[in-house]
Amino acid sequence: MTDSPSSPKDTVTLTNNSSGKSVELPLIAGTVGPKVMDIRSLYSDMDLFTYDPGYTSTGSCKSAITYIDGDEGVLLHRGYPIEEIAEHGDFLEAAFLILKGELPNDAQMTKFVTDISRHSMLNEQISFFFRGFRRDSHPMAVMCGVVGAMAAFYHDSININDPHQRMVASYRLIAKMPTVVAWTYKYAMGQPFIYPRNDLDYASNFLHMMFATPCEPYKVNPTLARAMDRILILHADHEQNASTSTVRLAGSSGANPFACIAAGIASLWGPAHGGANEAVLAMLHEIGSKERIPEFLKRAKDKNDPFRLMGFGHRVYKNYDPRAKIMQRTCHEVLDELGIKDEPLLELAMELERIALSDEYFIERKLFPNVDFYSGIIFRAMGIPTQMFTSLFALARTVGWIAQWNEMLTDPEQKIGRPRQLYVGAPPRHYLPLHQRG
Ligand code: SDX
Repeated sequence: MTDSPSSPKDTVTLTNNSSGKSVELPLIAGTVGPKVMDIRSLYSDMDLFTYDPGYTSTGSCKSAITYIDGDEGVLLHRGYPIEEIAEHGDFLEAAFLILKGELPNDAQMTKFVTDISRHSMLNEQISFFFRGFRRDSHPMAVMCGVVGAMAAFYHDSININDPHQRMVASYRLIAKMPTVVAWTYKYAMGQPFIYPRNDLDYASNFLHMMFATPCEPYKVNPTLARAMDRILILHADHEQNASTSTVRLAGSSGANPFACIAAGIASLWGPAHGGANEAVLAMLHEIGSKERIPEFLKRAKDKNDPFRLMGFGHRVYKNYDPRAKIMQRTCHEVLDELGIKDEPLLELAMELERIALSDEYFIERKLFPNVDFYSGIIFRAMGIPTQMFTSLFALARTVGWIAQWNEMLTDPEQKIGRPRQLYVGAPPRHYLPLHQRG
C-alpha cells in the first residue's frame, strides 16, 4: 500500500468550474479493493467540503483487519476467508488473528486461551451494578451501563497511551463480555449468577454461565457449543460498520476503552444494525404464515411504509452475505441436534427468502439475506430469549471493536474524528429583545 501516487496517472484532477480552481488529488491503492482519492487537502486547496451522508463513498481510515468485497460476497479477516476460519478455527483463534494480525502457533494459542480464561471473572463489586436495573430492562441497556462502568474499576488499564494497558484492557473486555452477557440474562431471569469456569472453552463457558444453576450439574451440549462458537466467529468483525465507526470515533478523542466499547454497544443496538436479529424474529412472528408473505413484501417496497424486510439488505453486500450462508447451515445443524422438526419460523424464513430473491424489487436493488436473517432462529432454538440476541452480537463484536480501537490508536495518521457539514439553517441575523418579536 503506498501513500503517494505510484505514477502521474494515479491522481484525480478536480476542477471547480465556478471558481476555475483545480487540484490534483492523489489516488492511494490498498492491498486489494478500490483505490481511494486522498481529499485531505481539499478544503485548504479548494475551500470545499465533500458531502456524503451515511459515508456511502467515504473511507474513514486505513485498516489491515477486515476486507469486504460486497459485489462478490467476500469477507476476509487478515486475508483469510471467513468460510475457512469458521470451518477450521474457533472463536479465540479468530480473536487472536483479528487482534494481532496472524494465526497463533500452538504456544501462542495456549497462552492466549489461558490469559483470556483468567480474566473472565468480573470484580465482585460489579455484580451490584446489575441490581440497579429493573429485571425487565432491555439487556443492551444493562450492557451499556455495566461495560461503561467497568472504567470505574479497571483503572490500571485505561491509559490509552500505554501499549501494555491497552492490551490488558483488550483481554479484559474479550474475556469478561461473556460473563456480562450471561449475568445480564441471569439477572432478568431472577436466577443467581453462575461464575465462569476455566476448564471450559469460550463458547461452552458462556453457555454454562447462561443455563447452569447451582442446583444441579449442567452439561453443555458440544454441538450447540460448536454452533455458538461458529456464530461468534461470524459476528467478530466487519470493517467500518456503524458500531465499529462509533468505537473509533469515541476512541479518537482519547476516551478509555470501556467507554468506547459501551458506545459501540449503544450503536449496535439499533434495528438497522445489530438490533436486526431481534427484529427479524419479531417480523417473522408478525408475518405468521406463508400466505401473508406477499402482503409484507408489498409493505417492504412501499416508500410510505416504514416496514423493511429485517435481515435483508446491506450497505456493502450487493450479493449474498457469506455469513448468512454459514448461519443457514448452522441453523439446520442446531435444529437437527435439538430434534426440532419443521420449525415453522425457519420454514417461513426460507420461504420468505425464496420469494424475495425472485422478486424484481429485491433483485434490482441487490437485496440479499444478511448475517441477522437466520441468527435469531438459532438463538431461539437454543433457549435464548429474543431480547438477548443483540447482546450476543455485541459479545462477539467486542473482538472487532477492540482490534479496530487498537489499530486506530497506533495509526500515525489518526486524528480526532470531526466531520464537517453543509449548513442549511437560518442566515446570520441579530438578537431581538422579547418586546420586539412578533
Ligand atoms: C448489520 O455495516 C455492516 O457491516 C453491518 C453488519 C455488521 O456485521 O456489522 O453487517 C451487521 O447491521 C447487517 C444489517 C442488519 N439490518 C437489517 O437487516 C435491517 C434491514 N436492512 C435495511 O435497513 C438496509 O438494508 C440497511 C440498513 C442494512 C442498509 O441500508 P442502506 O445501505 O442505507 O440501503 P438503502 O437504504 O440505500 O437501500 C437501497 C434501496 C432503497 O430503496 P430505493 O430508495 O432505492 O427505492 O433498497 C431498499 C431501500 O428502501 N432497501 C430495502 C431494504 N434494505 C434496503 N427495502 C426493503 N427491505 C429492506 N431490508
